Amino acid sequence: MEQHKELKVSAIKNGTVIDHIPSQNLFKVISLLGLENSGNQITFGMNLESGKLGKKAIIKVADREFSDDEINKIALVAPQAKLNTIRDYEVVEKRTVSIPDEVKGYVRCFNPKCITNHEKIVTRFFVVSKQPLELKCRYCEKVTTEQHLVIE
Ligand code: CTP
Ligand code: ZN
Repeated sequence: MEQHKELKVSAIKNGTVIDHIPSQNLFKVISLLGLENSGNQITFGMNLESGKLGKKAIIKVADREFSDDEINKIALVAPQAKLNTIRDYEVVEKRTVSIPDEVKGYVRCFNPKCITNHEKIVTRFFVVSKQPLELKCRYCEKVTTEQHLVIE
């Protein structure tokens, strides 16, 4: 049988494929995972067709695997992401991401008066709701929602 499964981004031998990223959040995912400063070979595609998401992005990081804590960071911007661990060209594991119960750093408190917006303090939020997203600041107790989500 002839196969028509054409890859838009080449297969990798070893590493991680992060699939089903909303295209508009591709660069946020790259930044949350600290990939700008990585020495690994990284390939990515954006605005690829996807049934589920309309347009999706995909990132392939060669010779790198991620811990659950690292990947859960991207849950806020890519809740449907699927991580595929590749070893010797085979997908050996598929993982989904989940929003943690507490978010430390990388999200800005939407309250302009919050101390975290005036002093060098790492933000901390309790996740009061995951769907819709509601993050309660530990410092000012104001709730930051999806609509006001700023990832830094
Ligand atoms: N992939 C890759 N290099 C490999 C093997 C797989 O880049 N050596 C990529 C595939 O292109 C795909 C993802 O890893 O984007 C997952 O592979 P696979 O499970 O084979 O694809 P699907 O069944 O389409 O995945 P899904 O679970 O997302 O439906
Ligand atoms: Zn605050």
